[in-house]
Amino acid sequence: MDSKLRWGILATGKIARRFAVGLAASETGRLVAVGSRTLESAEAFAADYPCIPCGSYDKLIHHPEVDAVYIATPHSQHERDIIACARAGKHILSEKPFTLDFPSAQRAIEAARSAGVFCAEAFMCRFTPDYVAIRDLIRSGRIGEPKLVRASFGFASKRGTDNFRFVRAEGGGGLMDVGSYCVQLADWVFNRPAVRSCYAMETAGDGYDAVGSGTVDYGNGLLSFSCAVHLELVNGATIFGTEGRIEMPRPWFCDQPFVVSHGSPNDPSAVVTSESFHLTTNDLYAYEIDAVARQISSGEATEHPLTSTLRNMQTLDALRESAGLSFMPGH
Ligand SMILES: NC(=O)c1ccc[n+]([C@@H]2O[C@H](COP(=O)([O-])OP(=O)(O)OC[C@H]3O[C@@H](n4cnc5c(N)ncnc54)[C@H](OP(=O)(O)O)[C@@H]3O)[C@@H](O)[C@H]2O)c1
Repeated sequence: MDSKLRWGILATGKIARRFAVGLAASETGRLVAVGSRTLESAEAFAADYPCIPCGSYDKLIHHPEVDAVYIATPHSQHERDIIACARAGKHILSEKPFTLDFPSAQRAIEAARSAGVFCAEAFMCRFTPDYVAIRDLIRSGRIGEPKLVRASFGFASKRGTDNFRFVRAEGGGGLMDVGSYCVQLADWVFNRPAVRSCYAMETAGDGYDAVGSGTVDYGNGLLSFSCAVHLELVNGATIFGTEGRIEMPRPWFCDQPFVVSHGSPNDPSAVVTSESFHLTTNDLYAYEIDAVARQISSGEATEHPLTSTLRNMQTLDALRESAGLSFMPGH
């Protein structure tokens, strides 16, 4: 017997497999079981990542050897799965976006709080030492007052068009899939609710946002972002402050150094000083796994508290509303 937290993984898709690798690299977690809609898929997963295969989500959620469930189902199922895990008394790490909108996020959080279980949204980058260091730099005033976050996350998907990412009713499109990373970054920097949001998009398929660009006003702080599921963008982020800036060339994966610079980049005679840092050395997902174990009794993660999840869901709702983007068929 060891004292590691016993994890179950819900679903067997791409990120579920990636999470199993993170679990193996974590200090505190152990993979115990996987649940799939089909026993065949659970068994194939368990052949690659040894664990108990469960031929239904229900079996995994109620498995007596599972303490915490990592939810890796499509966006539109997160609310249902969070509530089912909470009712079964399991701790929860749910993939992003947390749910489809603010009301469903409220319902899911209420279920977790009533059950007294841990609950967090799995924006894995938030839990890395690089993010901790950047937050400390901002708080210490190293770039003055943060005023603008510029961020982009976009890729040309190679997945078949039958993927849930390309179905509007499933919460498909760029904003929910990857624009949500940009929104959470700005919320993390400004740490307050947005007051105004505006999103413009190019649609594809059944009307999901294939490429989009938006602005969010946090009151004395702005986010300008782009996202896409059918276009390769130069993914990155810069946090501009009144006294300097922090460039994050790979803000979503933290596998390259971030750079803190002072001095005008636009004045040829100005002295520009730059320092670079890279502190994320372990598997990216291991950090969030260890953060869950560390904070399980407090019910949520300080790196990404549920208030921040709720604010982000509200901002995503406002962005969609500004663009007339609805998940409801016929709207
Ligand atoms: N944090 C990150 O780095 C990251 C990266 C990628 C994705 N994500 C998030 O993780 C979630 C899953 O993404 P993914 O890329 O792993 O997706 P995926 O490869 O398509 O896998 C999704 C899995 O969900 C299950 N599922 C249940 N109902 C389904 C349905 N109607 N259609 C398709 N699959 C269904 C399937 O597992 P079974 O057949 O076993 O039931 C499927 O393998 C999304 O919410 C996404 O935003 C996060």
